[in-house]
Amino acid sequence: MSAVLSQSGPQPLIAPSYVRHRRLLAWVAEVAALTQPERIVWVDGSQEEYDRLCEEMVRAGTFRRLNPARRPNSFLAWSDPTDVARVEDRTFICTDTREEAGPTNNWMDPAAMRARLDGLFAGCMRGRTMYVIPFSMGPLGSHIAQIGVELSDSPYVVVNMRLMTRMGRPVYEVLGENGEFVPCVHSVGTPLAAGEKDVPWPCNPTKYIVHYPKTREIWSFGSGYGGNALLGKKCLALRIASFMGRDQGWLAEHMLILGVTSPAGRKYHVAAAFPSACGKTNFAMLIPPAAMPGWTVTTIGEDIAWIKPGNDGRLYAINPEAGCFGVAPGTSEKTNANAMAMLRENVIFTNVALTDDGDVWWEGMGPAPAHLTDWQGRDWTPEDGKAGRKAAHPNARFTVAASQCPSIDPDWENPAGVPIDAFVFGGRRSTTVPLVTEARNWTEGVYMAATMGSETTAAQAGAQGVLRRDPFAMLPFCGYNMAEHFGHWLALGEKLAASGAALPRIFCVNWFRTDDHGRFVWPGFAENMRVLAWMVDRIEGRDGGATHALGVSPRHDDLNWSGIRFDAGEFERITSVDAAAWRKELESHGELFALLSHNLPPQLEATRRALADRLG
Ligand code: OXD
Ligand code: MN
Repeated sequence: MSAVLSQSGPQPLIAPSYVRHRRLLAWVAEVAALTQPERIVWVDGSQEEYDRLCEEMVRAGTFRRLNPARRPNSFLAWSDPTDVARVEDRTFICTDTREEAGPTNNWMDPAAMRARLDGLFAGCMRGRTMYVIPFSMGPLGSHIAQIGVELSDSPYVVVNMRLMTRMGRPVYEVLGENGEFVPCVHSVGTPLAAGEKDVPWPCNPTKYIVHYPKTREIWSFGSGYGGNALLGKKCLALRIASFMGRDQGWLAEHMLILGVTSPAGRKYHVAAAFPSACGKTNFAMLIPPAAMPGWTVTTIGEDIAWIKPGNDGRLYAINPEAGCFGVAPGTSEKTNANAMAMLRENVIFTNVALTDDGDVWWEGMGPAPAHLTDWQGRDWTPEDGKAGRKAAHPNARFTVAASQCPSIDPDWENPAGVPIDAFVFGGRRSTTVPLVTEARNWTEGVYMAATMGSETTAAQAGAQGVLRRDPFAMLPFCGYNMAEHFGHWLALGEKLAASGAALPRIFCVNWFRTDDHGRFVWPGFAENMRVLAWMVDRIEGRDGGATHALGVSPRHDDLNWSGIRFDAGEFERITSVDAAAWRKELESHGELFALLSHNLPPQLEATRRALADRLG
């Protein structure tokens, strides 16, 4: 259903009769009056609509249809080379005061930001279609779901949102006449003059990704890529939701959720936080090694978890998303066969390379074909690869419905969520942090999460391989003061403990320690099952492990080594705790705490001192 607006000003809004929400209608009219789109399309989320928009994008040059014999119903988009990742330095949390956003977020006074954005958004959709995209984060109609409506001038956003969220007409039934929704406005920021030809990937060098947590609004300008543009994901499900969770007593976390079943048939659920591009998708879809029969891993989510206390005092987690927007490079039959199976059809690829027979390729997928077209449309041969030119952008992505994942858990859409038995926190650290350590208690676990660090990757714009503290893997995603996030976790732990329930265990992992030649020592991927199995031992109360200054880690004999040779010397390399390195590490934690001193819970500095004493 579409309505044409004149460019000279707002017209009466023609909405489908099933949209009965007055506030929503008024808001759409208001944004249309500001942004001046040529037409408004109320998307219904149907397959026909998806197919039509994909076809239109093929005609416009935004999409290329992949060879249906090799990759049925799949498309490839190449973005503008300047619009390839989330722009953290252009992402703002506009709370009333700077302290509320905290020192790890960019902040601007809400009124000043509104004035600035009003200027940018005025007329920014001229010549384009504004799509009204209703979506639900979480199963439709579930008491834990949140509804959003995104107004976007990008058809690429519409089709991606259809895969990533529960999107379309049924959302209006849930919203009724006055249900709550998070208003999200997105523009690529490139109006078209009458008759002007569009480019395949419009965007604007000026970018703003803005959140007003108090009024639960999101405004995004200038980028069409990923988390900058698919506003249900990082913007709503993490930044706005974490702010809501703080106020309402729940958690929105950058975590995968998996189920792990032991050979004895007992099932546990683990939620794990890793910074972007540290293998969350691979861990969530892990296929246990053949030499560990009887173990299975199932996938509930691979990026975001909403976690709420249940009436029994346990924590229950849901995956608010309906799809995966995963990093393609590095994904292969060896690293993630489930993801490869999930990607066989019905996929949108962005910024991967194109093979001569109309399929896709990326670094790490397998041997490179003799010729490719790279993500910028240039010829590419393995010689170019040797010279350091990547065929796929390192942050190239796939968008696909989660239901296509072979390891999807039968409970992945259970609105009540799954009970969490353990939290895992991990970063990419070439040194210092052991393979796995269990925290002695909740406070030390929160400390581990708060002080997590990771060497940066292509998911963030900017230099790579630099160690940055990434508390809870939430550095770019926490919608309020990070120190208060620590306090929120501590308070939740106290509340749950007071109810008498057993708190989830907390583990810290690091798959990424390297040897003197910079090579990873731990084989990772499927072999991470050995660490997961040890966690299950701990959850079940078995005693395998040695206590050291930081917590409890397995000894060589405590892990199952069937089918693999990994000797005690290698194990020592990735589990050793170097006291001198740790003293430095604790100093660096102290610097983080100094930065976050406003409202920092005193337990954290006390824990730091206790750890320093233990190190001697
Ligand atoms: C993501 C990210 O896209 O964390 O999931 O960057
Ligand atoms: Mn992520």
